[in-house]
Parts: sequence; structure tokens; C-alpha cells
Amino acid sequence: MNEHVHSPTLSERADELEEKMMNDLAERIATKSVLFGMADGKVEIQNSFDFKKNNPDKFFLMGADPRLPAMPKKPTLIDFFKNRFASLNHLLQSAALAKKNGHNEKVILACLLHDIAVTSFIRCDHGYWGAQMIEPYVDEEVSWAIRNHQALRFFADESVGYEYPQQYINNFGADYKPEPYIYRDYELAKKHKWYMTSRLICVNDIYSFDPNAKVNLDDFVDIVGRNFKQPEEGLGFDNSPSAHMWRTLMWPTRFL
Ligand SMILES: [Fe+2]
Ligand SMILES: [Fe+2]
Repeated sequence: MNEHVHSPTLSERADELEEKMMNDLAERIATKSVLFGMADGKVEIQNSFDFKKNNPDKFFLMGADPRLPAMPKKPTLIDFFKNRFASLNHLLQSAALAKKNGHNEKVILACLLHDIAVTSFIRCDHGYWGAQMIEPYVDEEVSWAIRNHQALRFFADESVGYEYPQQYINNFGADYKPEPYIYRDYELAKKHKWYMTSRLICVNDIYSFDPNAKVNLDDFVDIVGRNFKQPEEGLGFDNSPSAHMWRTLMWPTRFL
């Protein structure tokens, strides 16, 4: 038997079924990008020609995915909070703590947005991704702080009582060492004039996992309004360097 020809495995059958269901359910065919499959250990691209051959009357999705919460025509950052962020608790608790600790609005906003990449987009390098998403719309200090909390999280600063998180020991093992680029970025950040802004994200982050804390997005709408330059066309429809990232979040299963 040719070793390259094999009968479908269970997971392939499940994929086929999922495909079929998707086709039956939706008018249009939603596309899974290669990145989505990598989480299952596959580097594969869906064959659009086969799809079309099996579904000659169907078209690929090129707009909103009906399975996801609907977004308004001109979305604001708050609309993304409500419809695209999988969890708000951690962000709100962190911002609430910064507010309680008497920090300025830049720090509070940085805390509110520090993990938006994790809650909506991707975990890996989330500080860098999150900073890039908001960079065109916030004070440079805020995005700088968010970018660098990625590295600072891994290093203690006794001057503000920040210790290496026990949670990281639990999550990554006691012998985990960050990659060299994290050490490099930490060394650079340490000498920067905004070091403490970024450090304060870590300080207000670590104590922010209280499941009973009462937090509300409404408490921060004014701070967002004053400090996040919401584009008139809607977030994603302006021509900023990160507008496409917001569009992708809005339409993650578009064919192109
Ligand atoms: Fe983070
Ligand atoms: Fe965090």
C-alpha cells in the first residue's frame, strides 16, 4: 500500500464534518487561516479549489462572520471590549487597582489595555502586539509601557515591591529562562525615562486576579474617551498603521 495514501483519521473526519456543518449553516464559507490550525499542531492551508468544487453554488465569506457578535459600522474601542475581548475581568481589575492606588490616567489606561492582545488576539509576544494595536491612538508613553511590560514581567524590582511572579513558576517551571530578546529589552527599558510607567503595569497586574472583585467597564469609559483618539471612521476603517489589525479582529474568517 502506498504509504502516502491513508484512510481519514478521526480528527480528519471531524474536520470534514465541521466543514460540512459550516457549509450547511452559513450562506458563505468562513475561512480558517493557517495560524488557527497551528494551535492544533498543523501547518496547513485550506484548499479553496476543493471547497469551490464541492460547493459550486457557495461563496467564501468576505465580511462579517454571522457566528460572531455583530459589530457596528463605525466601531469604537469600547465595541471591541464588548464584542471581541474574551474576558474583561483581568483588564478591569488591573485598571481599578491603578485607579485606587492614585495613579494618573496614562497609567490607568495602560493597565486597562495592557493585555488586550491576550484577550482578543494572541498570547505569544502579547505586549508587543498590544502596543502596536493601540500605538496610533494613545500617548506614546502608554504604548511604550505596554510593549515593555512583556519583558519587565520577568524581572523583579524591589524598589516597588515587585517580585518574580509565583504564577510564572507554576506556569512555566522554576527553571524557565526568558529568551535573549526579553533580557535585551529589559536592559533597554531599565534605562528609559518611562521605565516606571511600564513597571507600574506589572505592579498593578500581579494582584489583579481576584475573582470576587466587582468591576465595570463603564467606570473607565471616560478615561478611554479622554485618552484614546477614537478615529471618526471607526476603529479599523481609518488609515493608521494598525487599522488592519482591528479589521482582522472584526472579520477574522474573511477569505482575503
Ligand atoms: Fe501581560
Ligand atoms: Fe496582565
